[in-house]
Amino acid sequence: MRMYDVIERKREGAELTDEEIGFVVDGYVSGEIPDYQMSAWLMAVFLRGMTDAETRSLTLHMMASGDVVDLSNLPGVTLDKHSTGGVGDKTSLAVMPMLAAMAPGRAFVAKMSGRGLRHTGGTLDKLESIPGFTISLDEEDFLAAVRAHGGAIIGQTGNLVPADKLIYALRDVTATVDSIPLIASSIMSKKLAAGAQCILLDVKVGSGAFMKTVDEAVQLASAMVAIGEGAGRRVEAMVTNMDRPLGHAVGNALEVAEVVDTLRGRGPADLTHEVVMLTAELFHLGGLGTVAEGRALAEHVIADGSAFEKLCEITTAQGGDARTLRDPALLGSARIRHELLAPADGFLTAIDTERVGVASAELGAGRLTLDDAIDHTAGIVLLKNQGDAVRAGETVAVLHTATEDRLAAGLATLRAALTFGTDAHASEPLLFATVTRDGVAYANEAAGARDPSASIKSKGRI
Ligand code: URA
Repeated sequence: MRMYDVIERKREGAELTDEEIGFVVDGYVSGEIPDYQMSAWLMAVFLRGMTDAETRSLTLHMMASGDVVDLSNLPGVTLDKHSTGGVGDKTSLAVMPMLAAMAPGRAFVAKMSGRGLRHTGGTLDKLESIPGFTISLDEEDFLAAVRAHGGAIIGQTGNLVPADKLIYALRDVTATVDSIPLIASSIMSKKLAAGAQCILLDVKVGSGAFMKTVDEAVQLASAMVAIGEGAGRRVEAMVTNMDRPLGHAVGNALEVAEVVDTLRGRGPADLTHEVVMLTAELFHLGGLGTVAEGRALAEHVIADGSAFEKLCEITTAQGGDARTLRDPALLGSARIRHELLAPADGFLTAIDTERVGVASAELGAGRLTLDDAIDHTAGIVLLKNQGDAVRAGETVAVLHTATEDRLAAGLATLRAALTFGTDAHASEPLLFATVTRDGVAYANEAAGARDPSASIKSKGRI
């Protein structure tokens, strides 16, 4: 087989065989296929797309390029939740201990997470704002922690899907990132390699997300569900709103403190609603009960404090100082706090969420390249959300940072991210659609709960 012919066939819109796709992935990982040919192939895929079968083949060959975690010895159902990335998205930190507290001995969450880049935050960075917390357990210790406590979170091990690391780096410099089959195979190869039987995908849509429209997000969600189900796992996706940050806090220690508030029953309404919704759905996907039972139990483990105690237990097991969760003031605070005030009476009509994420990164909470150091205490607390009324001079946001230079940069960006006006724009719902192996159910209700009257509009497809 020659790479030239495979590129040509894809360029002409032919459907590639499993053998051809395996040849491309294996050849690129082994170094036999050079960057210039792989770049041409990626561009052909970008322009021509891929069928369901091609996307599934690509995913499975990528998955098989490295280690695959074996969770089959855990004595219960293995669950994973993945978000495609957003601003202020701290739901994984709450969902994991909630599930472990809801079904002890029956549900196990073995989570491999990533770091933040540019405007998006990363679960690992948030966890590392807890003093002592280690995200680099070896596989044996990781599985032992999951077994003992019902959940653990680590960074991706070095040899998990090496094909994705190589291919993503090339996509990043060849304008081929924004391709649904390439994004779907990149995400799903890592999720499948991480080993869980049941995977809930939170596909973000809006100004702070990869996907800017509900249609695009539903296509990506459908592609990922089809891949996972085709590979014999249970996979569902919820398409949720990232046109505004989730909760009030953006920035690592600030977000951990907000998760603590949420697990103690005093979190922001939108964040609480979303973590209960995601937890209930994953509980159901794992065959542990109905969505309604999941929701009731999720609310119960918040109300009785057991989800918060579970977070403390998991934190201690991973070397973290749980005293900082019991008293989040111990997580530390930034040297400078600056209040951004509303310019006039009116409404906060729109939030450019991506810019809020960039502002937070400029304050020190994020990184532009994977090697940048981050300031765990930096970030933004938005006291007003999209659609809220404001009075002239009222505090809209508090910026946390270490230096005046960072403050100047972050403040200018945050100001540009917020639009004030005199019309009250209704805020968008939290949930747009749920994608299962049966198709797409669009949520009609602003409340964001899974709507029983939602209609199946189309079959899942790539
Ligand atoms: N996240 C990934 O892991 N891969 C992509 O291609 C895009 C987002």
